[in-house]
Amino acid sequence: MKKILVIGSAGQIGSELTLSLRDIYGGENVIAGVRKTKPSEKLTETGPCEVVDALDMDGLVSVVKKYNIDGIINMAAILSGTGEKNPMLAWDVNMNGLINVLEVAREYKMKQVLVPSSIAVFGPTTPVDDTPQETILKPTTIYGVTKVAGELLGDYYVKRYGLDVRGLRYPGIISHETLPGGGTTDYAVAIYYEAIKNKKYTCFVNADTRLPMMYMPDCLKATIDLMQADFSKLKHHCDFNVGAMSFSVAEMAESIKKFIPEFEISYEPDFRQEIADSWPNSVDDSAAREEWGWKPDYDLDAMTEDMLKAIEEKHKKGLI
Ligand code: SER
Repeated sequence: MKKILVIGSAGQIGSELTLSLRDIYGGENVIAGVRKTKPSEKLTETGPCEVVDALDMDGLVSVVKKYNIDGIINMAAILSGTGEKNPMLAWDVNMNGLINVLEVAREYKMKQVLVPSSIAVFGPTTPVDDTPQETILKPTTIYGVTKVAGELLGDYYVKRYGLDVRGLRYPGIISHETLPGGGTTDYAVAIYYEAIKNKKYTCFVNADTRLPMMYMPDCLKATIDLMQADFSKLKHHCDFNVGAMSFSVAEMAESIKKFIPEFEISYEPDFRQEIADSWPNSVDDSAAREEWGWKPDYDLDAMTEDMLKAIEEKHKKGLI
């Protein structure tokens, strides 16, 4: 790919992925597509930035033509928590936005489209431990419904049109650069911010809630490794399980206490408990390991140390 458009560049993953891709492909060659959220200076200073709303086909086409885009990464999505508050919006952004991206990619004969999926494709009837690659996909959230449909739609474009579409099922993503928004796994980021700011956190899911999680450096590595994998070696396309860590909230709190002994945690579960309970504890990612060499680097304590250090820095500078 020579010119990549990242839609959703101001989001939790998009903001860091865009910068990593600019390091690899050159700043001018990675266009940051933003919609409502103001992009950071890092984003505006290191390469082109354009307003892109995947729901506005004309606007999307004009950016594609302006830069001769030959690859799109579609990071724009309404996540599980916000989706339950506004199912129509989730459907619109996650489905209509996606089909616009796929259509424009087909029409302009792009080299690749990357569309992330999520552990939200699984549901209460899916096996919870080491969830297999091929398994029951009966999610109970609108976000999960759109992600299952998105995987199928991407695979359809591969088969029907020969378009190179790829995707991976992200677990909860933990990072300190840009806050996540509207997801069920957001507690796993908030806990670190509150540990630094207030030495305590009230969690919206209970102590033994256990979900698959991943630290941002591994998320960037997984995404870029999948993008760069040899297409002819892929047996799967849009639905790779990718695992890294799996821990309960209580285990996270213990990990934080190793660095901040006075840290206290309490629990007030809300509607997101039911969502978390419908997702797996851990996933079997052997297909990703075999087909494109996936291997994570971080474990819980290594991530905790890194997160607390980075957030402490922000706190000292008065940024949070
Ligand atoms: N982080 C997402 C959410 O919680 C899962 O992909 O909605």
